[in-house]
Amino acid sequence: MAKTFSVVALVATALCLSSLVGSAYSQNDQLHVIGKVICDPCRVSFETTASYPLPGAQVQLVCTNRTSGVVKETIQGTTDINGAYQLTVDGDHQDEICEVEALKSPEPLCSSLVPKTIKNARISLTGNSGVAGSDRFTNPLFFSPEKSLESCPQILLDMGILPPGTDDFYY
Ligand SMILES: *[C@@H]1O[C@H](CO)[C@@H](O)[C@H](O)[C@H]1NC(C)=O
Repeated sequence: MAKTFSVVALVATALCLSSLVGSAYSQNDQLHVIGKVICDPCRVSFETTASYPLPGAQVQLVCTNRTSGVVKETIQGTTDINGAYQLTVDGDHQDEICEVEALKSPEPLCSSLVPKTIKNARISLTGNSGVAGSDRFTNPLFFSPEKSLESCPQILLDMGILPPGTDDFYY
């Protein structure tokens, strides 16, 4: 069960990431990196019927040189009342790896980062990836409680998702 679940999550993530690849705009343009931070009470790192947005969460965009690993850009931001953030960044980040990470949760009871899941939203900020316009949407970032809700297996079943086994690292 755990395996089925992980594969589904990975495929979903891959589909999201692949939609970010590819853009056409002039390199000097400013880009808006847009995303949201969510409390994920089931510790599954995707949105469920139990998840809700986190206003006032701190996020950070970091771009590093793909070859040398040197950090070229760091921009911090905070989510608005809807749990959404927008970071404005110059568009010239070719040959760099840019990622948004969740830094700090406003909710002490929903401030844990689930280990072994993707906690950074990687985004293409290069000059020739085929995406029109200046908005770049990232995958959501998640904070969770230390322990998932007891109702989560049923919540996931109701969503048509096989919950992970209780020995799984998600629990
Ligand atoms: C990235 O690092 C490599 C190796 O140090 C360097 O040759 C290259 O010019 C750097 N690229 C940028 C865009 O800074």
